[in-house]
Amino acid sequence: MTDYKLLNQQLLALTEGVKEPVSNLANASALLFYTLPDLNWAGFYLYKNDALLLGPFQGKHACTKIAMGKGVCGTAALQGETLVVPDVHTFPGHIACDGASNAEIVIPLYVGGTLYGVLDIDSPVYHRFTEEDRGGLEAFARTLEAVLNG
Ligand code: SME
Repeated sequence: MTDYKLLNQQLLALTEGVKEPVSNLANASALLFYTLPDLNWAGFYLYKNDALLLGPFQGKHACTKIAMGKGVCGTAALQGETLVVPDVHTFPGHIACDGASNAEIVIPLYVGGTLYGVLDIDSPVYHRFTEEDRGGLEAFARTLEAVLNG
């Protein structure tokens, strides 16, 4: 079980006094990837020119551009809400970047009232993300938004 309170504190400590978004997103992805068990990918897609572009991440190389409304990431971004997918093979239009992925959670990020991007986390374990993970990761995302907001 992940200690999400501690994870949040670590994010705050890592980002304290750092203004550069790329540095903070890179460290946030590494923190997630090396703290949560059973992940094969953790990172960000950033909203630009009405699409999602690959941002800092940990894991295998991934698709660089996702259209709004496409895949789990584009759907979560368009709907503006977290998507928890217990089995990605049943998600219509799922984009398979890493064949090892079987479950996924995507949380949209908002900064200054507008879409900033998404946090995307993949696992080889079906049903990997519980309600507790969703709550903890949404809290992590809210902290990150505050950091990005400066
Ligand atoms: N599976 C995602 C694409 C990104 S990779 O998982 C890193 C999707 O369907 O949007």
